[in-house]
Amino acid sequence: MNSYIEAVDFFKGNNPEKVAEEFKTPLYVYNEEIIRNRMHAVSQVITKYPYTANYSIKANTNIHLLKLALEEGLNCDAMSEGEIRMLEAAGFPKERIFFVPNNVSAEEMKYAIDRGIMTSLDSLSQLETFGEINPGGKCAVRINPGVGAGHHEKVVTAGKKTKFGVAEEDIDKIFEIAEKYNLTIAGINQHIGSLFMDYEPFLAAAQNFLRIALKFKNLEFVDFGGGYGIPYHKLDDEKPFEMEGFKKALEEILDKFVADYGYAPLFKSEPGRFCVAEGCVLLGRVHAVKQNNGHAYAGTDIGMNVLVRPSMYDSWHDVEVLRDGKAVSRDNLSPINVCGNICESGDLLAKDRMLPEIKKGDLACVLDAGAYGYSMCSTYNSRPRPAEVLVCKDGSIKTIRKRETYEDLFRLM
Ligand code: LLP
Repeated sequence: MNSYIEAVDFFKGNNPEKVAEEFKTPLYVYNEEIIRNRMHAVSQVITKYPYTANYSIKANTNIHLLKLALEEGLNCDAMSEGEIRMLEAAGFPKERIFFVPNNVSAEEMKYAIDRGIMTSLDSLSQLETFGEINPGGKCAVRINPGVGAGHHEKVVTAGKKTKFGVAEEDIDKIFEIAEKYNLTIAGINQHIGSLFMDYEPFLAAAQNFLRIALKFKNLEFVDFGGGYGIPYHKLDDEKPFEMEGFKKALEEILDKFVADYGYAPLFKSEPGRFCVAEGCVLLGRVHAVKQNNGHAYAGTDIGMNVLVRPSMYDSWHDVEVLRDGKAVSRDNLSPINVCGNICESGDLLAKDRMLPEIKKGDLACVLDAGAYGYSMCSTYNSRPRPAEVLVCKDGSIKTIRKRETYEDLFRLM
């Protein structure tokens, strides 16, 4: 594909160059229609049994996007008190929030308990804390099923060597603590890792998880976690996650479980990336081009402070080169390093990437930047965080987060 943004009319008739001039760069640009569409898709993963999709908001907490999730009927999971507060501000009632924290203080746990928000405990130690501050309460437990998967070792969140969840061998201890504090274990959850395109490992993990679920009596819900992948190699025509095949295969696994368990609890999943990644591109300006010892570099204002995924996980993001608002043809490609303006040699957005010729003044348009993009950005090198704009269904563009100012950098000192 020569250009994804042109193929899907991402800017809805607006000229990207004009958008960049008006809102400045670097700029996160979201597309309402694509995000709603993906949010709807995850709400349909299980249709035969009671099911809710919880948008995992760590991927992107912009309140305007949370409101889209609210309107699309999704519930949400929160990892911290801050995320709960975001959800409350977006209008989510307590029943639609699931608190899935890791190693939190009793105080932070109490924030959720006081509001009647269902909380999952990630260790026996945290379950004890919950019991101490909320005896007789109801909660969930995160299980580490012993196997994990994911696009990078840093995002594998289950298996013998991760910090997450309670190991299967400790399940009896869950029951002992529950008895001691008269707790009801209403649900169990897992999350094996992030970004799978092949759904077999997820299905194997789901099957294994349901085997573990049989050890729990009277469960109200079983939560399989998130991780559905998106095609980051769009320009090479990578196929999207095959949702239909996945749904069918998962349904067969659920049929068996429901028959064995005697009834269908509420099933849940926790997709983050899938909901928001593809509905966002990141626009940056090319401020310099050079050859260093035979290697070509394009220097942009998209540093690792703006998008850290490539530096942190060697993640791939497709890059389109835009000139005068149009994607430059990909007929003639040569290797180039696209980098940012941060004082680190690891500040590389795309390494030895085959791209069309890049000129000073061009725009670099980074695809699939909506998940773990803005939510992981920082002010490293004292660079204010970028703005975020939303291309609405009707083609209008609204600012959904202002660009930080230099004053903001001093505000708390
Ligand atoms: N549920 C739990 C408990 C999680 O820890 C996560 C992600 C999710 C759901 C959502 O996973 P998703 O559907 O987005 O894959 N920053 C990394 C990803 C870290 C994911 C951490 N946990 C990245 O940029 O790839």
